[in-house]
Amino acid sequence: MKFFVDTADTEEIRELADTGLLDGVTTNPSLIAKSGRDFFEVIKEICDLVEGPVSAEVAATDYETMIEEGKRLAGIAENVAVKVPLTMAGLKTCSQLSKAGTQVNVTLCFSAAQAILAAKAGATYVSPFVGRLDDIGQDGMNLISDIVQIYGNYTSLQTEVLVASIRNPIHIVNSALMGADVCTVPPQVLKQLVSHPLTDKGLAAFLADWEKTGQKILD
Ligand code: E4P
Repeated sequence: MKFFVDTADTEEIRELADTGLLDGVTTNPSLIAKSGRDFFEVIKEICDLVEGPVSAEVAATDYETMIEEGKRLAGIAENVAVKVPLTMAGLKTCSQLSKAGTQVNVTLCFSAAQAILAAKAGATYVSPFVGRLDDIGQDGMNLISDIVQIYGNYTSLQTEVLVASIRNPIHIVNSALMGADVCTVPPQVLKQLVSHPLTDKGLAAFLADWEKTGQKILD
């Protein structure tokens, strides 16, 4: 399973890219607003930091403007994935951009029916938002299970399931168990994944015992 980070904070992206664990980045208008930076400048900088896809979202809601925005965003760098909302105009834009060879991430997916349409439109990625479904009392992971099963029924469908709106490590582990292709994860959740109290306790004990040997690995 691939790991994308869900942020427009270039310092955090730089730090995570250095670990070699990062396969891509997703942004959205709210994350761009939070960064307080120029949209084009920040997307370009992220594209230079990571080799994998960097999702940049259109702001228009009508097809004609959306397609022009999509072309402009795709022109920033080769690894831009144009993000479009799961609306009829977004699907039409997805279809056109995909045919032209641009990577497209169809976002704001909340049902299996919507995910079927995203795949039909040739999306590179579909982004079901699990946390926001949990927030309204529905189990977001059930949606991932349904989409993975549906896409698995048709070998011709190439769309990858990109689990979005992730809130905790359990979302990630369950995504992997279900066979999702990608998780896009907020930086703090990505850091939580590595932590385990028994790892800390075990390491402290090993280091204390090593100290007693009086030896060194490096001179
Ligand atoms: C995905 O691409 C979105 O940017 C993101 O996962 C939304 O998550 P949120 O529900 O935490 O805003």
